[in-house]
Amino acid sequence: MNLVTTVAELRAVLREPQRAGRTIGLVPTMGAFHEGHLSLMRRARAECDVVVVSLFVNPSQFNDAADLIGYPRDAERDAARASDIGVHYLFAPAVEEVYPPGFATTVSVGGLTDTLEGRHRGRAHFDGVTTVVTKLFNMVGPDVAYFGQKDAQQALVIRRLVRDLDMPVRIEVCPTIREPDGLALSSRNAHLSPDDRARAAALHRALDAVQRAVAAGERDPAAARLPALAALRAAQIEPEYLELVSTRTLVPVDRIDGEILAVVAARVGATRLIDNRLIQPSPNPDREVATVATAAPTTA
Ligand code: PAJ
Repeated sequence: MNLVTTVAELRAVLREPQRAGRTIGLVPTMGAFHEGHLSLMRRARAECDVVVVSLFVNPSQFNDAADLIGYPRDAERDAARASDIGVHYLFAPAVEEVYPPGFATTVSVGGLTDTLEGRHRGRAHFDGVTTVVTKLFNMVGPDVAYFGQKDAQQALVIRRLVRDLDMPVRIEVCPTIREPDGLALSSRNAHLSPDDRARAAALHRALDAVQRAVAAGERDPAAARLPALAALRAAQIEPEYLELVSTRTLVPVDRIDGEILAVVAARVGATRLIDNRLIQPSPNPDREVATVATAAPTTA
């Protein structure tokens, strides 16, 4: 694996594979790699000829200065793990390489960014994400870029960005990797105290509770939220939001008629965590039970 720190060097090393028609896969990250990041890299490795992983803790997307300062960093360990997976280039630019003096452009996606994370972290968060991702796409010129379902709103915003600006890159969204107790892996989990770490699994249990309610036939989002709120309360967690939203628009649904996204954000101790679950109601739970019951004798 090669470590690259400047845009000029990155363009130089990618020129030949690009000319030869090799597929280039990009995995944008902020480092402190865990199995979630590594799963995106493995997928890129399986699907692309050349894999570039970017490692850049993007200051413009942090709404909280303490969060930026305390963000976990371990470049050496990250490089070793990416190398083990067979990543070809680790692109780790300095802040001045990405934002040179006089930098004055912002790429902003409307609508989808007004809600959930956008509402709670402020406009600047997604503006920072879409600006840096646009720059990374222009620097690398990937055929495919890989993102995690863990940050469902981010993935949707990136899809919108690419569509709206006709960017020639395919976006792949990969499943959330979890701890055995269901906690979604996140670089920020490292900040949890042992007690908070145990409580944090309640976010996953809350999403389970929504899923169970919907599977049992609940179609009213307010009612489906109740057992989820109870699961959080049992762990003394007050959510910033817990919503059942449209998978396309992120607007809260009035009724659970098709696939929905259950999203949750909460502070556990001083650490802010997010999680989500795609939930598909069965077309008619009562009829399904009846079908199983009538089918049973013939299969016995
Ligand atoms: P970062 O938080 O480092 O995440 C990099 C990628 O890993 C994102 O696409 C994220 O959704 C994915 N990811 C994180 N946790 C995951 C998990 N448990 N399972 C699967 N995938 C997971 O997201 C960012 O960085 C930044 O906003 C970035 C896109 C790099 C722009 O700066």
